[in-house]
Amino acid sequence: MEKIVIKGGVPLTGTVLVSGAKNSALPLLFATLLAAGESEIGNVPQLRDINTTVKLLGEFGALVTREGDICRVDARQIAGIEAPYDLVKTMRASVLALGPLLARCGRARVSLPGGCAIGARPIDLHLKGLEAMGATINLDHGYVDARADRLRGARIYLDLPTVGGTENLLMAAALAEGETVLENAAREPEIVQLAAALNSMGAKIEGAGTAVIQIQGVDELQPLKCRVIPDRIEAGTFMIAAAITGGNVLVRDAIREDMEALIGKLSETGTEIREEEGGLRVIAPETLKAVDIRTSVFPGFPTDMQAQFMALMTRATGTSRISETVFENRFMHVCELQRMGADIHIDGHSAIIRGCEQLTGAPVMATDLRASASLVLAGLAAENTSEISRIYHLDRGYERIEEKLAALGARIWREQE
Ligand code: UD1
Repeated sequence: MEKIVIKGGVPLTGTVLVSGAKNSALPLLFATLLAAGESEIGNVPQLRDINTTVKLLGEFGALVTREGDICRVDARQIAGIEAPYDLVKTMRASVLALGPLLARCGRARVSLPGGCAIGARPIDLHLKGLEAMGATINLDHGYVDARADRLRGARIYLDLPTVGGTENLLMAAALAEGETVLENAAREPEIVQLAAALNSMGAKIEGAGTAVIQIQGVDELQPLKCRVIPDRIEAGTFMIAAAITGGNVLVRDAIREDMEALIGKLSETGTEIREEEGGLRVIAPETLKAVDIRTSVFPGFPTDMQAQFMALMTRATGTSRISETVFENRFMHVCELQRMGADIHIDGHSAIIRGCEQLTGAPVMATDLRASASLVLAGLAAENTSEISRIYHLDRGYERIEEKLAALGARIWREQE
């Protein structure tokens, strides 16, 4: 197994380029299953979750080729409809195969993802929506078995604006008979990109980016050709890397409108954020001010930035409260940050962080994707050496993070354990 080693204390400077968004690339790759032809997606990041998705598409009989950041998926023939447990357990987003397979083939068998480090994460709303569209769903041997001759449009109210649920239902409704209305839909930029991509394939979707999305089903879709939007979570992680190390970094391809909540909160800490040609410049203040955050759905503060922001708050002057409202168990990084000298205690769904003078390097363990990023950030700011193990979590969602940070001056590298 590999680990990341960091000798902290270097203020980061220079320019870093943001990769394509994992959370956009995944639904786009699954959307290629909707068209009987060859789709082409550009700006696809090199990540473990993308590799898992490519394997899954192969299980369904699609032919996938990759050339740099371009991914071509030939889905002329769909030969399989089962997403096996071995793949689903490594990536919950595998459940996004359900909507497209059901709509295209009339049947899908997808292993139930089960729990994960950040909570139970059920998929009941995905299933309720598909049932409302006429699917028959059975749960057997740990699998969701869904069938439908042809899905029918329906009016669906989502109890929570689930991102994956909205994506699954969008893809299913695109090929259903008649009109579907999704109420209380998720509004994340990745939903907007998926809807635009489906429309470019011939779908008729209106309202993506608002809480109500209307989809007029069509009989068939054409192959997809598009480019993945920049990753707002990766961009945000680099912005915090600049702020926590006292640095000055241009984050290229960061899109301001997709990151207003984070930018607002970073500004409150005293960090300066300037729009420049091609990206956002982040200039750290002399001292960081403590601020409170509360995660929520877009356009609120993203839960995927919570752990990284907590790392930043360990270095701030004063006390901050970070409340997690999206996932029930997303404070796994707290114990590891404490091992680096952070003063944090958990009070229900909130963490109270008292800023400390200095973090100290320590061996720590990554527990999930964004928790790993928070440990990297803490390591960049800490005295001495930190070693982060179980970095396969990090490789799920960050493309060559150690190389990108090293190019900004960080003393960081990957080693065999
Ligand atoms: C997506 C993102 C993930 C991000 C999350 C919230 C991808 C691949 N992943 O995950 O990085 O952290 O959005 O922004 O895009 N829920 C239910 N029933 C359901 C579905 C969800 O109760 O059927 C609950 C979940 O347990 C969770 C909350 O709703 O508490 C949000 O989940 P959801 O928006 O579905 O997240 P994902 O799509 O899994």
